Order: sequence, then structure tokens, then C-alpha cells
Amino acid sequence: MKLDDFRDRKGKEKIVMLTAYDSQIAKIVDQAEIDIILIGDSLGMVFQGNTNTRGVTMRDMVYHTQAVARGANRTPIVADMPFKSDSTVPAALRNARRLLEAGAQGVKIEGRKTEVIKALIGEGIPVMAHIGLLPQTAAAYRLIGKTPEDAERIMQDAIRLDALGVFSMVLESIPEGLAKAITETVRTPTIGIGAGKHCDGQVLVINDMLGLDPAFTPKYLKRYADLSQIISNSVGAFKLEVRGGEYPGPEQTYR
Ligand code: KIV
Repeated sequence: MKLDDFRDRKGKEKIVMLTAYDSQIAKIVDQAEIDIILIGDSLGMVFQGNTNTRGVTMRDMVYHTQAVARGANRTPIVADMPFKSDSTVPAALRNARRLLEAGAQGVKIEGRKTEVIKALIGEGIPVMAHIGLLPQTAAAYRLIGKTPEDAERIMQDAIRLDALGVFSMVLESIPEGLAKAITETVRTPTIGIGAGKHCDGQVLVINDMLGLDPAFTPKYLKRYADLSQIISNSVGAFKLEVRGGEYPGPEQTYR
């Protein structure tokens, strides 16, 4: 399905989105036939080891988008506009085009950047919005939208972005009731992370759902694998076999 047609998914089969940052993972995810691969600027944390996403550059995003695009040839790819890459309309247009040239079919923009989003959509660039918790500017990672004022502000953001014609919107770390109300109000499909089950779809960071960091345990996260343990066991077995002279054995030896 093309990103331009995504608004038609509203109220139909749930949308499944996962992040990917490299070609091999992208290939596996692509073959699993999900709906969207997101090259999230979460790569700043899970790939680069930083404590937030603010250090991610356009150069990083282009590099990872190219890698993912080499691995995935059927799933639509959306790339995050990194911190400050969309602070003016000309910069946003230039940077979004770089991501499309690198292999993305659309871009994701954090927050209610009305003029920028309008300009990108006007130039035919599919835009995914992102509201609720905004990691690029948040002081801390926490639930947003608990007070009536905050909830109303997020609802107004959603209504405004809906009117601009974004093809979907991520709702991050907001109460289930608010996510449900937004999902029922806007025509744009909502994709939740930490926003409960009523959204039109769900997204997770692939490293988190595969259990690569045992210390990362937010309430919303479900681990579908324990890769940290599998990798640790495999490394330990390799170490023992090398030191014990068992690896390489006859089957792994050229004659
Ligand atoms: O950067 C990212 O991976 C994201 C998702 C968590 C939605 O923005």
C-alpha cells in the first residue's frame, strides 16, 4: 500500500509499524509483511548509545535510510526528520527530499509544525505526524496529557494535523482514553506507542520488542524475544569453544 492511500486504512485492519536501522533487520521485517518500516531517530539511543535523540544528524538519517532501503523492497519506508532539521520551511523541504532520495517514501515530523507540514504536503511529500510525548524536545520521558489542559492541547494538535492531511499520526505516551478520543475524532489513522489499544495501529522500536536491552522496561513494552540472552549465550559458547580448541572443527575447516 502506498503511503498516500494510508488514510483509507482508518477503521480497517490495524496498522503494524516497526523501526529498523540496518539492512539485515530491514530485510527480515520486510519479509514479515508489516505495513510501515520507520527509521526512527530512536537510533540515537538504541544504535548510537546516546541518552536522547537530539544528537542524530541528517547525515545519520540518510546513512540509515540508505541501509534500510537496500534491505526492504516491498514495505513503505518512513524516515524521521531529526532534531532541528525541520525548523524552517526551506530546511525541511531540502532535508525531506534528501531522505526521499535515500530511499524513504515519507517523513515523520515531531510536534505541531503547521507551516512546515503544510509546505511538505503541498510539495507531494507524505508526512506522518507525531504528537503526545515528543522525544526531541521533552525534558523527560513520561506520560503526557494527564491534565485536562494537556489533553485538550494534544487533541487540538491532532485536529489541526488531521486537517493538514498527514497520512498517519503517532500518538506517544498518552492515556488510553485520550488516544481513543483522538482516534475517534480524526480521519487520519493513529499509530500508538504507549497509547493503549484503541489506536488504528501500533509501533514499537525493534530493539526493544526483541529484548536487546533488559534494563529498558517501560510499562507499554512487550518483549517478543529475549535477544540479549540469546546473544550473550552465543558469545559465551563461542568463547568456550575457541579456548577449548573445539572451534573450528572439521566441518568448519577448508582442506
Ligand atoms: O524514533 C522513533 O523510533 C519513534 C517511534 C518510537 C515512534 O519516533
